[in-house]
Amino acid sequence: MRTVRDVPTLRDLVAQARRAARPVAFVPTMGALHEGHLSLVRLARREGGLTVVSIFVNPLQFAPGEDLARYPRREKEDAALLEREGVDVLYMPTEASLYPPDFSTIVDVAGVTEGGEGAVRPGHFRGVATVVLKLFLRVLPDAAVFGRKDLQQVAVVRRMIRDLDLPIRLVVGEVVRETDGLAMSSRNAYLSPEERRRAPDLARTLLAARARAIHGARDARRLEEDALRQLEAARFQIDYLEAVDSLTMRRSPEARPGVCLAAAVRLGGTRLIDNVYLLDPAKA
Ligand code: PAJ
Repeated sequence: MRTVRDVPTLRDLVAQARRAARPVAFVPTMGALHEGHLSLVRLARREGGLTVVSIFVNPLQFAPGEDLARYPRREKEDAALLEREGVDVLYMPTEASLYPPDFSTIVDVAGVTEGGEGAVRPGHFRGVATVVLKLFLRVLPDAAVFGRKDLQQVAVVRRMIRDLDLPIRLVVGEVVRETDGLAMSSRNAYLSPEERRRAPDLARTLLAARARAIHGARDARRLEEDALRQLEAARFQIDYLEAVDSLTMRRSPEARPGVCLAAAVRLGGTRLIDNVYLLDPAKA
């Protein structure tokens, strides 16, 4: 595995792959890697070409007062994990190169960013879309792999790729969970042992709603209300809980294929987000 910090070397490696007719598959991350990230790396590897993973904790997507300063950084461990997965290139750009002092262009994807995370974290998706487009333009991948754990982020990237005619195929990986159901997240490291025991109640609540939908409960408002009550009983602070169409991120009154129940809650100082499909996307 080559660890690369500068753009010319990155471009050179990508150009070599392209000359050899190898497709380039790219997984952007903020590091502190876990099995969720590694599942995306395996999807990228399945593309059968050059696998590029980036690690960059992007200040532009953190609001003042969020966890930018304490976001876990584990470069050496991350590099070892990626090496073991057979990654070809680990790209670790510097903040100075991505954001020079007079940096003044922002990518703003409207519509899909209005509700959910976008409503609670104003500016977050501008930071995400801007860095993802910059990374895309540096790596020039044929395919880019994102996790459905961040449902709205996937919708934002999908819309940006379409609107800006980016010649990149979006590959979406499933949510990877701990054995007790908690969706894996770099932020789970913030949880105290007591909070860690309670955290899976979020996934349990969402999965219970899914089970009801599969058994015929199609009124999304009812499912939302019942799930909300369960989250309150579990003493989470709830940022939002909504049944939304996974492409448009609009709320859906009906549980139909493609509709996800998505939630963000706070447990002590830690924010947890998760979502499930109410019905499997392919089934009617
Ligand atoms: P980060 O939170 O590090 O996540 C990197 C990728 O891993 C994202 O596509 C995310 O959805 C995916 N991921 C995280 N947890 C997962 C899980 N439990 N199962 C499956 N996939 C999971 O998302 C970001 O970084 C940033 O916003 C980024 C896209 C890198 C832009 O800065």
